[in-house]
Amino acid sequence: MSLDPIIANTAAQRQPLRVPVHMGVIMDGNGRWAKARGKRRTEGHIEGVKSLRNLVELCINYGVAHLTVFSFSSENWSRPREEIAFIFNLLRRFVASDLQRLIRNNVRVRIIGTRAGLEASLLRLIDDVEAKTAGNTGLELIVAFNYGGKAEIVEATRRIAADVAAGRLKPEDITEDTIASSLYTSGIPDPDLIVRTSGEQRISNFLLWQAAYSELVFVDEYWPDFDEASFLRVLETFARRERRFGGIEAATP
Ligand code: IPE
Ligand code: IPE
Ligand code: MG
Repeated sequence: MSLDPIIANTAAQRQPLRVPVHMGVIMDGNGRWAKARGKRRTEGHIEGVKSLRNLVELCINYGVAHLTVFSFSSENWSRPREEIAFIFNLLRRFVASDLQRLIRNNVRVRIIGTRAGLEASLLRLIDDVEAKTAGNTGLELIVAFNYGGKAEIVEATRRIAADVAAGRLKPEDITEDTIASSLYTSGIPDPDLIVRTSGEQRISNFLLWQAAYSELVFVDEYWPDFDEASFLRVLETFARRERRFGGIEAATP
């Protein structure tokens, strides 16, 4: 019996798998990971950053071109103030501790989300990390921070409406491309695969427009436990999916 390359399970046979060009990850379950160990939620967030560092490396090694991670949603403002402050500080610390490594690894960083309302020092940091990695040509790491899919569509709609009001654009000339190129993710291909950890099976306002034809994979591990084995299982699941895009047979990737 010949081995189906999609479910072959040696590293060498996995390599030719269909690796997503763009992978999105909803990094969920830090709090429950900590609770299960009798730790504070904040400790779960610290472990979550380690998982993210590991995921970036995996994406580089396996040839994912764009990785979008959901790190703070516009709805996460409803959490206790101390937890929000902790998550914001973690982002600062991640940038400070990992910037050199990201540059060395040829990673380009883009932060997507609403900038309004963020502290000036945080905005400077975001601009700095984007500028210092802008010339890199390897993995594009897109961090969805203070991000909400609905808010993104509202911002895009306002820009398009302003163009119409100013006479620069006719309503009948608005196309899907007009909208796509007005989103934060302008120029980035839509995610082929979106993974959510922690057993929750919902999108929670992540990449609403862009997820129209993404394959969704939900895994039970809490985010801090997501490791190389989990990553490979997800890629195998993705490779087995038949993507039809409304047609009747699988589209070649
Ligand atoms: C994901 O973990 C991180 C953020 C949303 C910032 P959670 O903090 O949501 O962890 P759970 O879902 O409460 O376990
Ligand atoms: C989604 O997780 C947001 C991030 C992972 C940053 P949440 O924990 O905020 O989502 P809900 O509230 O369970 O839907
Ligand atoms: Mg959660």
